[in-house]
Amino acid sequence: MNVKEIERLIKISRERPLMPETYIPWQLEPEADDIFLPETLTSLQGLDIYETLTPTQKTELGRHELVQVIASYGWGELLFCLFMTRHMLTLPPDGVEHQFLIREMIEELRHQEMFAQAIAKLGGKPLPQSRMHKFFGHFSNKYLPADYLFMGSVSVELVTDVYGNYARRSPDIYPVIKKMFDLHNIEEGRHILFTKSLLNDYAAKAGYIKRTLYSYVILFNILFVRTMYVKREIYERISVANPDEVYRMARKNFKQKFAEKCLDDIIDFVKEWRGFNRLTRFAWRWVLGAKV
Ligand SMILES: [Fe+2]
Ligand SMILES: [Fe+2]
Repeated sequence: MNVKEIERLIKISRERPLMPETYIPWQLEPEADDIFLPETLTSLQGLDIYETLTPTQKTELGRHELVQVIASYGWGELLFCLFMTRHMLTLPPDGVEHQFLIREMIEELRHQEMFAQAIAKLGGKPLPQSRMHKFFGHFSNKYLPADYLFMGSVSVELVTDVYGNYARRSPDIYPVIKKMFDLHNIEEGRHILFTKSLLNDYAAKAGYIKRTLYSYVILFNILFVRTMYVKREIYERISVANPDEVYRMARKNFKQKFAEKCLDDIIDFVKEWRGFNRLTRFAWRWVLGAKV
């Protein structure tokens, strides 16, 4: 790991903190034509049924799905904070890794507060994670070794980065949400740099089997994120007819869109350390619809 580079990241975090309290224009209420989630990231856009929705239903779909994205992401980050706390106990307190993780924890906790406030501002009612998500989330967080958990975290951070970029480029997005994504992208950008440099050390030493396992950890983390926010209840909330049928179509539609729009950076990252091989490539194609 490049110590100088990590020290530079720690310095920026200390000297130029972005405080959600002042960085985000919380006083602004949404305007009539503000949207919450770029249409292209909603689960129904691209299907014929999307064109039959009223403008209000489309906005509401974006609002509910965005709330679900934020809540799911916050939950994942909080789990990762649990791991970081345990991991820091094993590190020398004067080392750069320890110091960086302290900064990361501070920022992640600020993000948690920001996410909770954003959900309240949107009048959101997040749906709880499924039992399966809860089980795998807690189990892997507690029992997987550190390198695997860092692999998982960077893959989730890369997905959020993509979401943030779409949201920031979308001209009519509600300014509170735009600034929330701005703040998050800037700070997560540093976490990604740090984690990637840490992982390059791990990956350089990894043989075929370990790279295969790393690749699967990333794949499952991505699947985990992708399946956390397409929810049947949301279609009921926006009063579409046949929510079960719509849910089935939405899952398929979203799988395909997600593969097209959200996986490029992750695929590049996995390629960097030769994570695609005969044992992994078929699973990436089959489970994620990735073009690898
Ligand atoms: Fe975060
Ligand atoms: Fe992070």
